[in-house]
Amino acid sequence: GSYEHILTSTPKPGVGLITLNRPKALNALCTPLFKELNEALSTYDNDQSIGAIIITGSEKAFAAGADIKEMAPKTFAAAYNENFIAPWSHLANTIRKPVIAAVSGYALGGGCELALMCDILYCTEKATFGQPEIKLGTIPGAGGSQRLTRAVGKSKAMELILTGKNFSGKEAGEWGVAAKVVEGGQEALLEEAFKTAETIAGYSRVAVVAGKEVVNKSQELSLKEGVEYERRLFHALFGSKDQKIGMTAFAEKKKPEWSHE
Ligand code: HXC
Repeated sequence: GSYEHILTSTPKPGVGLITLNRPKALNALCTPLFKELNEALSTYDNDQSIGAIIITGSEKAFAAGADIKEMAPKTFAAAYNENFIAPWSHLANTIRKPVIAAVSGYALGGGCELALMCDILYCTEKATFGQPEIKLGTIPGAGGSQRLTRAVGKSKAMELILTGKNFSGKEAGEWGVAAKVVEGGQEALLEEAFKTAETIAGYSRVAVVAGKEVVNKSQELSLKEGVEYERRLFHALFGSKDQKIGMTAFAEKKKPEWSHE
């Protein structure tokens, strides 16, 4: 598609790249940008040739937050009636293929929350994360209080959200927020994200979607229910062509040619 606030491309086979591109506002996530992001995510999610999606920003900013200038005049009634921020749930609630956040520069407020919503987070050492909403007289509104707390534990999340203090990409790695911390800049970061996305896109789409689904269930269910859920889906995958293809290829010492069915 052709977009105003984002760029889309397929830099590697099976990999859909979405670049937030509103440089004058450090990629502040205004409503029109989010509409485009959701459209691009759905397009890749529905495209059989795509196996993994990357969301990135620029060297300077992944995203400096929700758009403060758009939010400033809102009343309670307006926010409530239009269900402001509801479109932000599209990624977590609807997108089934894995989404990697590649974060360099600022990931503040809603930008941090968007990164936390992704399935895998990679960042540069010098990336700057934070939930500074408290400084604006408000609180995180796109899941930050829940996802950051699950990622770093209650005491640290409470400290971050109540002081509004930033944390670095290096700290994000140490605390388990980021799966990988890259030493260089945006280019080195994207290289690592491409590698992982290409690896994932090289597997059976059916198995990958199931793998994402079961890991996400761990965030919602008790351990016993989660293990049962996993077993149901594990059993179900014996009905996929790719389970036969994968296991037969192993036995025959061949490379599997996935049918994605
Ligand atoms: C709207 C923003 C913005 C934002 C930056 N800009 N962040 N506009 N919303 N979140 C705009 C600035 O107004 C400025 O526009 C331009 O981008 C460049 O920013 P500067 O401040 O001049 O850049 P710099 O001095 O380098 O400082 C970078 C910064 C600072 C430290 C990231 O911009 C900043 O503190 N931004 C706000 C961060 C924040 O509070 N985020 C949380 C938002 S609340 P002009 O026109 O002046 O050039 C939130 C709520 C989420 O996200 C809850 C629901 C999702």
